Amino acid sequence: MDRLRIEGGRSLAGAVRVSGAKNAALPALAACLLTGSEVRLDNVPDVWDVGTLVKLLDGLGARAERLGTHRWAVSTPEIASPEAPYDLVRKMRASVLVLGPLVARAGRARVSLPGGCAIGARPIDRHLEGLRQLGAEIRLEHGYVEARAERLTGALVDFPDVTVTGTENLMMAATLARGTTVLTNAAREPEVVDLARLLRGMGARIDGAGTSVITIEGVEALGPCEHRVIADRIEAGTYLIAAAITGGKVTLEDCEPGHLRAVLEALAKVGLRVETGPSWIRIGNGRPLRAIDLATEPYPGFPTDLQAQFMVLMTQAGGSSTIDETIFESRFMHVPELRRMGASIDLAGHAARVEGPTPLTGAEVTASDLRASACLVLAALAARGETVVHRVYHLDRGYEAIEKKLAGLGARVERLSDR
Ligand code: EPZ
Repeated sequence: MDRLRIEGGRSLAGAVRVSGAKNAALPALAACLLTGSEVRLDNVPDVWDVGTLVKLLDGLGARAERLGTHRWAVSTPEIASPEAPYDLVRKMRASVLVLGPLVARAGRARVSLPGGCAIGARPIDRHLEGLRQLGAEIRLEHGYVEARAERLTGALVDFPDVTVTGTENLMMAATLARGTTVLTNAAREPEVVDLARLLRGMGARIDGAGTSVITIEGVEALGPCEHRVIADRIEAGTYLIAAAITGGKVTLEDCEPGHLRAVLEALAKVGLRVETGPSWIRIGNGRPLRAIDLATEPYPGFPTDLQAQFMVLMTQAGGSSTIDETIFESRFMHVPELRRMGASIDLAGHAARVEGPTPLTGAEVTASDLRASACLVLAALAARGETVVHRVYHLDRGYEAIEKKLAGLGARVERLSDR
């Protein structure tokens, strides 16, 4: 198991390139199952989760060829075996994104139920209810979802609550259904919009992506497409906070400021100086950091995937900050580790109250999930002394070359391996 050793107390400076979005690349790869033609994807991040999904696609009968570090060509002449096995799905919950495409393309699917993870139970009931509405017969047995449908039929699918991958699964399934599907209370995330852009490039007929009502006109078949995945807004937000927490001045390149409005607003309220251009964001410190209250929300609100990172920033801000995690039921796994580094954080239900500023000291800490591990790295950058972050495979799932990118900004960080 690899770990990162970080010497804190240095201000970050310079420029860093933002990679393609993991949460856009994963649905894009799943969408390749919908056609026998070749789909070319560019700006795919070089992260573990992409490798896991490519392995899953291979087992389903898709041919994925790596054309470059960030470039893939995927074609699925036929679905050899529509089964997503437990050992892959338990590693990466996003594997459930193959469910909709398999039922739409092959008329059947056997996908392991994802089970919970560090941030919550994470059921997929809304995905399954939506597929039932489209006419699929769904059975749950032996820990698997068995789904069957001669051909899906367009229908109205009203999500009781917003679900990002649920919206993506149903949008993909509906592209090959007979007739029209309308998704209401749909997720509005940029990753949903990017997936719709890819599907339209493949010949799908989709309107309304990015709003709460998405209309899909089913077609007989989808075709080839070349697609460039959008930049990762969560990675971008993580580096913005890394700059803010170390009192540095950093420019992010190849990113989409328009996808980070709520985050940039929050950082400006904290007292940071933020400038943006068409594909860059520059952040610098103007004044001492001010504590603010914050609640996570579905897009375009403040993203839950940056909650842990923002909490670390609040440990260095003057005053008391209440952070309300409204999306996941247990996304405070990072709090005990932050306390060990000196943070003053009280938890009450889904709210955390942070008192700052508190000096942080380096410690041995252990990552628990992707974004919690990113927050421990940020804390280490701000802490006095040395921190060792264990189990950085959590980080490698969604952050490309994090130690190289941080070192490029002047951080003292190195990867230690047991190998
Ligand atoms: C996506 O997960 C992201 N993953 C998550 O990013 C992100 O945190 C989340 O959306 C929220 O923005 C990918 O896109 C691959 P949801 P998803 O369905 O789709 C409940 C990361 O770090 N729910 O929008 O699984 C669910 O338990 C990951 O990159 C149901 O109850 O999230 C949660 O409380 C972590 N039933 C809430 O809804 C369902 O059928 C939102 O979940 C589906 C969801």
